[in-house]
Amino acid sequence: MAKFTPAAHLICPLDQQPLALDGGSLKCLGGHSFDIAKQGYVNLLPVQKKKSKDPGDSKEMIQARQRFLQAGLYQPISDQLNQLVSQQLDASGNKSVTILDAGCGEGYYLSRLATENKLIEKTQVDQKKVELLGVDISKWGVQAATKYQLPITWIVGTNAQLPVEPGSVDLIICMFGFWQPEWFARVLKPGGKVILAESGVDHLVELREIIYKEVHRKNIPELKGIAEEGFKLIDQQQLEFRPATLNKEQVQDLLVMTPHLYRASYEGKQSAQQLEKLDLTAQVVFRVLEFNPQPDNV
Ligand SMILES: C[S@@+](CC[C@H](N)C(=O)[O-])C[C@H]1O[C@@H](n2cnc3c(N)ncnc32)[C@H](O)[C@@H]1O
Repeated sequence: MAKFTPAAHLICPLDQQPLALDGGSLKCLGGHSFDIAKQGYVNLLPVQKKKSKDPGDSKEMIQARQRFLQAGLYQPISDQLNQLVSQQLDASGNKSVTILDAGCGEGYYLSRLATENKLIEKTQVDQKKVELLGVDISKWGVQAATKYQLPITWIVGTNAQLPVEPGSVDLIICMFGFWQPEWFARVLKPGGKVILAESGVDHLVELREIIYKEVHRKNIPELKGIAEEGFKLIDQQQLEFRPATLNKEQVQDLLVMTPHLYRASYEGKQSAQQLEKLDLTAQVVFRVLEFNPQPDNV
């Protein structure tokens, strides 16, 4: 059995009581028990939140994204994230820091954050104890993430009911994921931060021009519930770069790993399938939000 890294503040998805490791399971005082999978993760997805038999990204999508990301094609996005996280950690005086990746997919960004920012050895470096949690609703994503073999707590779960104690997280990263202000506010410490990454207006525009009749250049959406839940936008940055030329297989992987697979017309997908290579623009907007509870939420 692969090693599971237990985190300090996990709670039962059924009665919200603290979970503790007991042999090969996590158990709460209410008698609920969740087995640690042999790959080294735990499934804390409440059944009522499981809207389909196999929720989230499919095995095929996860494998495509894994090949694409591991080829380093989005490494500048990961580098920018790592830099933003460093700034936030330096600014935080907390000795013990919990970082949660909400919608971690196959774990590329969180694993690279752990290794490149040396968060795993942080305890020796400056006495900060760093705990890392990756949550995704796709069991395929989480299973793939365990393959990095890092001391990260990998959890099948949902951003719409995060299985961690209220007020226990310092920083949430959400890379091309689902903004859930109510749940992010619930689990963050006062003063906690969220780093969100989303596609910019011109992200992958060259691919979109091939697969759609008309390319809509929509601005990134306003985030709902910011002020209501006690969030304030404190930084916004745009990153634009040109990944190395994609080969035929990488173009297919890109189509499979994004919503374009579902949205593109049949003819559009046929045209993309005929491409031998593709040069692309990647454009990503990072938003950093700070959470401070509203007086009536305290
Ligand atoms: C576009 S992918 C991004 C994955 C990863 N953050 C990355 O950038 O490589 C969105 C991810 O959100 C996951 N997801 C969808 N709904 C979710 C939910 N309610 N809670 C947690 N994850 C969810 C999907 O399974 C998928 O892995």
